[in-house]
Amino acid sequence: MSTAQQRDWKDWHQGYADPDSDLSHRLAHVQRRLSDALSAAPPGPLRLISLCAGEGRDVLGVLPTHPRRADVTARLVELDPDVAAVARLRAAELDLDGVEVVTGNAGLASAYDGLVPADVVLACGIFGNVNEADIHTTIRGLPALSKPGATVLWTRHRKSPDLTPQIREWFAEADFDEVGFDIEEGRGFSVGTQVFRGATAAFDPTVRFFEFEPRG
Ligand SMILES: C[S@@+](CC[C@H](N)C(=O)[O-])C[C@H]1O[C@@H](n2cnc3c(N)ncnc32)[C@H](O)[C@@H]1O
Repeated sequence: MSTAQQRDWKDWHQGYADPDSDLSHRLAHVQRRLSDALSAAPPGPLRLISLCAGEGRDVLGVLPTHPRRADVTARLVELDPDVAAVARLRAAELDLDGVEVVTGNAGLASAYDGLVPADVVLACGIFGNVNEADIHTTIRGLPALSKPGATVLWTRHRKSPDLTPQIREWFAEADFDEVGFDIEEGRGFSVGTQVFRGATAAFDPTVRFFEFEPRG
């Protein structure tokens, strides 16, 4: 069994029930940045992938009312079948035919086969759950998942030792320009927004990006 399933991720999503929780505040930033990224994307069909999508509250909270709704083909990849089922049901309720929810391992490049390079890549709720080497590997792997001009959204807590300066540097080294780094006074989250300025790298479906760390 995957280490990721040692934590009850279904329960973790209850944090969204409180509109004043850090999680809800973080989500608001992610949704705003996602909406901006879709608005700024070139005309025509758009591809979006979400790594470790959870219940998909970011994508499913933005797409229904977004002017680019009909242009977007999205793949949300979530390992926990119960959590994925929540996202799938919600997407169906919202008549989002372009949104596919895959129950699978987002840490494997093969999960994105056929839908990359993408215009928008969401990596939210990952970098606080994998080790440093895997964060670096994931960032180095993003040029193979991203179109030139693609937006990548990521999140990470800022608990000591704060790894976000290092993460932001790794994005710069991978040819991403930072267009946003959202934090709030007294809250520990951060939401990073990066735009890819490089050329798309070759896609290798055998690459492994990360694995969630076991929790005590
Ligand atoms: C911290 S939550 C973030 C969920 C969502 N991105 C959000 O921000 O609301 C992490 C999610 O990743 C899922 N997960 C853990 N390991 C995974 C893997 N290897 N592949 C896909 N999903 C995974 C968990 O089941 C959980 O739903």
